[in-house]
Amino acid sequence: MKAIILVGGQGSRMRPLTSHLPKNIVPVCGVPFLTYQIEYLKSVGVKEIVFSIGYRPEDIRAVYGDGRRHGVKIHYALEKAPLGTAGALKNSEKFVKGSPVIVLNGDILTDIPLAKMINFHKKNKDVATLGLVRVEDPTAYGLVLLDKKNYVTKFLEKPAADEIVTDTINAGVYLFEPEVFDYIPAGQNYSAERGLFPSLLKDKKNMGGYVWEGYWQDIGTPWKYLTTHWDILNGAFPVYAEHTSLSNKVYMGKGVKIGKGALLKGPAIIGDGCVIAEGARVLPYSVLGKGCVIEKNSSVTRSVLWDGVSVGSHVQLEEVVLGRHCKVLDFTKLAKGSVLGDHAKA
Ligand code: GTP
Repeated sequence: MKAIILVGGQGSRMRPLTSHLPKNIVPVCGVPFLTYQIEYLKSVGVKEIVFSIGYRPEDIRAVYGDGRRHGVKIHYALEKAPLGTAGALKNSEKFVKGSPVIVLNGDILTDIPLAKMINFHKKNKDVATLGLVRVEDPTAYGLVLLDKKNYVTKFLEKPAADEIVTDTINAGVYLFEPEVFDYIPAGQNYSAERGLFPSLLKDKKNMGGYVWEGYWQDIGTPWKYLTTHWDILNGAFPVYAEHTSLSNKVYMGKGVKIGKGALLKGPAIIGDGCVIAEGARVLPYSVLGKGCVIEKNSSVTRSVLWDGVSVGSHVQLEEVVLGRHCKVLDFTKLAKGSVLGDHAKA
C-alpha cells in the first residue's frame, strides 16, 4: 500500500517554534518528527509515501530528499496555496491513483495497529475507515459518532462544551478506497472533516470507525510537543536519535564533554558535541540537541533544547522548550512552560 501524509499546515498553535520550521519536522527526541511516521508506515510494508506539502516545502525536502536514506520513496505534492485537508489529498491523487491508500495527519503520534486496521477495512469493504481514539477533553478535536455496528453516522468538528456527546475523536489515521477521491473537487480548498466526510455520508457510503484505546497524541501545541518527549523517553516509542553510548538511561551523542562533578540522570538525550560544564545537571526527561552548552551549576529538567542552545551559569530550566541557538544568560530564571523561538535571548 502507498501512503499520503498531510504536512501542509502552518502550525500556528506551535509558534514561535514553527515560525522558521514546519511543525512536521520539529525535532522530537533528536530526530525530525516525520521520521516516526515513516517508521510507522514502514512497519506495514509501505514503500512509497506522498508528502502533501504547502508550508516551507524546501525545509522538508532538505531533510528527507527522495526518501532513500529512510528506506522509502518519497513524492512531493506541492500546493501553491493551502488546499485544506481534502483538497490536499486530491492534489496528491496522481501518485496513488487506482489503489487504496493510508492517510496520516502529519502531526500525530500513535500506536494504532495499522495492520489490524487494514484487515478491518478489507473485511468490511467500506469506502473509508477512520482511526478513532478516546480522549478526556474532546473539545479541541473532531468528534465522530458511530452506530452499533461501528459505522460513522455523524461528525462534529471542535464542538462547544454543551455539544459533546462522545469522547471518540478522529485520530487523523485513515484508509481510503480510490472512489473517495471522486468526492473531492480539484484545485480548490476543501476540508475532509467539513466537506468530504459529510458528502460521503450524504451519499450513503459506508465509513467504518476503527476505535483504538492505546497511545495517541497530536504534537500541535508546545505543551503537547514537550510531553510527547516524556512519553517517548518512558518507552512509548523507540528513540531513533543516533547515540554512541547509553548509560543510566542517558542516550549520548558523539563528542559530548562532561565537566567535573556534572550530574546526568536519565531518561534523557544529549546530542552530539554538547558541553555540560562543571557542576551542571541534566536531569530526567531532558532532551538536548546538537552542540548545546550548559554552563557551571545550571540544571535542565523535563525540557527540550534544540540545536546550539547556550545556557549560562546558575540557570535552572524546568519544563521549557528553547528553539535553535537560543541564549539564556547567567542567573536567569524562566517560568515553567516558557517557549522561546530560534535565536531568542533571555
Ligand atoms: P494549526 O495552525 O496550529 O492549527 O496547525 P495546522 O496548520 O498544522 O493545522 P491542523 O493541526 O488542523 O492540521 C492537521 C494536519 O493536516 C497537519 O498535519 C497539517 O500539516 C495538515 N494540513 C492542514 N491544512 C493543510 C493544507 O491546507 N494542506 C496540506 N497539505 N496539509 C494540511
